[in-house]
Parts: sequence; structure tokens; C-alpha cells
Amino acid sequence: MFIESPRYTERFGSVRINHLQRVISLDSGLKSTLPDHGAMGVMKVNEDVIKYYEERMAIIISIKDEKLKLFEGVVSGVPHDCLIIVVSNSQREKVDRFRMEKDALEQLCRYTLRQALIVHQKDVVMTEAIVQAGFTDLLDEKGQIHDGKSEGMMLGLLIAKAVGKEYVGFIDADNYFPGAVLEYVRNYAAGFSMARSPYSMVRILWHYKPKISRGLFFQKWGRVSETTNKHMNNLISIKTGFESEIIKTGNAGEHAMSIRLAEILTYASGYAVEPQELVSIFEGFGGILPTTNRKAMEDGIDVFQIETRNPHLHEEKGDEHIKEMLKVGLSTIYYSALCNNEIKQAVIAELIAQGALQEGERLPPLRTIAPFKKANFNKFMSIMEKKLDKYSVLAKTIK
Ligand code: GDP
Ligand code: CO
Repeated sequence: MFIESPRYTERFGSVRINHLQRVISLDSGLKSTLPDHGAMGVMKVNEDVIKYYEERMAIIISIKDEKLKLFEGVVSGVPHDCLIIVVSNSQREKVDRFRMEKDALEQLCRYTLRQALIVHQKDVVMTEAIVQAGFTDLLDEKGQIHDGKSEGMMLGLLIAKAVGKEYVGFIDADNYFPGAVLEYVRNYAAGFSMARSPYSMVRILWHYKPKISRGLFFQKWGRVSETTNKHMNNLISIKTGFESEIIKTGNAGEHAMSIRLAEILTYASGYAVEPQELVSIFEGFGGILPTTNRKAMEDGIDVFQIETRNPHLHEEKGDEHIKEMLKVGLSTIYYSALCNNEIKQAVIAELIAQGALQEGERLPPLRTIAPFKKANFNKFMSIMEKKLDKYSVLAKTIK
């Protein structure tokens, strides 16, 4: 593919945040060449480079009661060389939606002989492995794995590490366009190919997010994204003293990380997970607060933000969902140790103005999930190793 070169990078301590890079063209041909790197501000990412990263990448699809057709479309869009890991929190009673997802995945994989894993969020073996590993932040008061997209993502991460993948990419299951899914993964690969550090992250910004209101309107920014980005940028600006607009992907549901980075971050529960990843990076490696990981601090963290060619269309889940997203997203900023009073007040005022918080109401505290490097991964492995085949849709060992 052709993509804008990383032309400008803002530094925040050891964090290198790259400006938004646009995909210029989805395919760059086999033989095409460009003038010397940088001359035109465009670079070519070769197909074999993309495939190199895809082979090392697990794609984690979190799903909860989505339309089966959408899920099938998403699966069909994931490049063949990536390992698909589905973590489902769909209902099992009355209609066993999890069973339906499993059957659909099996069918898609059987014909193409591709490997995939699917696990339910409440799976007893997995829960036992989590308990034994001491990963208690993932558990609810009943001792089961907590509901929530973030918790599903964490299970996916653990499995990806267990099968030896080096990168993980996340894709929502409610995406309408398989072609967009294909592009996201290729963009992840392109991002990783530009990283200098083993600790890297790629976040997707969609070109347009169409809305249906008196015809199809191709909207540039969602309201939640715009608000989150603004306050997230303020969080950096107060520390550097320079106003910044660098963060364009505070809420990016579609994003990817090297496992090396994924295992040292503190996460937030539920829908706060994506903005919290950035906040955790700023806290841990921004040079303001003490770091918990010297090696990563030395190597630096590379963050890439890539704008797709495809528009993004997913299931609209209503106004209440949007307000909830806004509230939990902004609470990652509000509760950050980097946040000052001025930003706190601005966050509260914003939430009240957008009807997501009542006057005088307290912002609910953030539930965080400790980095999984802290859990006993060997314990987790010793329980899961013999069971991984059980989650595999092709009855053979994953490699
Ligand atoms: P949005 O796209 O960010 O507005 O949020 P969605 O509601 O579409 O959620 C993103 C993805 O997470 C979708 O694929 C959901 O099906 C999935 N999801 C939501 N809640 C859960 C959950 O509790 N567990 C799992 N595993 N996935 C979930
Ligand atoms: Co969605």
C-alpha cells in the first residue's frame, strides 16, 4: 500500500506520538518504486512486509449478541495469515447465540483451512486459569469473569500470548464492511513496520463515519471522539506547555499493539479501555510520573495513527450508549494522576453540557485492570496448554 510517511512526531517523555498518516492507496503493486524515501512524503509498504506482520498477529474479535451476518462478514475480512481469536459474551440461554457464532466460524474456517479460536467469556476452564494466575481484576463478585468489552479483550490478549503471537489487533464484531476490516489489519501491519521500538501501538481513524439522516451523510468525526480527543490533548498540553492537537484517535475501537506493550499497560474496564490505554502510556512513559518499566522507557513507545480509505459503518446503539461511552472515556482523563483541577472541571462541565452527567453528580470511579505481566502467566499456561485445542475450530494444535 501507499501511505503518508511519518512526517511529524510529538514527544512526551519516552512516548513518540506520530501525527495522523493517511492511506494514499490500498495497493501499491508488485514492482512500483518511489523516489528516495521522504521525497514526496509518501512511502510504499510492500506486500511481503504486510504479510510478515500478519503472520505474527492475532486478531481479537470481541462480540456480544451481534447480528450473525455482521460477525461472518468481519471474519471473512481478516487476512488469512492472522490467527482469529473470538471472545464472546453472547447469551447462551434460550437461544444459544454463542453456539451459533461457533458454528458460523467453524464453517468459514473449514472451507479455507484457516485456524481460529473461540471462547466464551464465562468459560469455566478459562476462569479457573485466570483465578490460578492471580489475575483477580478480571473477576466479578461471583468469581466469574466480569462482563465488558475490555475484559473480553484481556482474555484475547492472554490467549494470543499463550499461542506465541507477537502482535494483537482488535476488531469489533459489528462492522458492516468486510473490506474495511481487511484494510484495518493491513494498516496495523503498516504501522508496525514503521515502529522503531518493540513497544508499539497502531490506532485507526476512519476516513468517514456515515450517518443516516435525510440520506447518507459522511461525517468526519463522531461526537464522542471529538470530545475525548480534545481533553486528552489538554492532558498532554498542561505538562508540555504547548497546546497540541496530536491525538486524533482517543476512542479508536480498532487498534493494535505489540504484545510487549500490551502486557505492561494498565487497562480500564468496559468501554473506557481504549482511551485508558493512551492515558496509561502517558502516565507510565511520559516522564512526569515514575515509570514501572525501565526497559520500555529506554526503548520508547511508538504510537501510530492511521486514517483509512474505507468509511466506517457499525451498528448504532443509541444515545444512551453514546453518553455512557463519553462518560467512561472522559473519566480516564479525570482520574489520571496527570490531570489537574482545571481539566477536571472542564471534563465535568462537558459531561453536564452533553447530558451525560447530572449537575452535582459524581463521576463514577474508574475500575482498572492491572497489567497482565503482573499475573502468573506460567500458571495460566499450565492450565490452558492442554485445553487450547478445545477452543480451536479446526481440531488440530495451533501454531
Ligand atoms: P462501540 O462500537 O464502541 O460503540 O461499541 P459496541 O457496543 O459496538 O462494542 C464494541 C464491540 O465489543 C462489539 O463487537 C460488541 O459486540 C463487543 N462487546 C460489547 N460488550 C462486550 C462484552 O461484554 N464482552 C465481549 N467479549 N464483547 C463485548
Ligand atoms: Co460498534
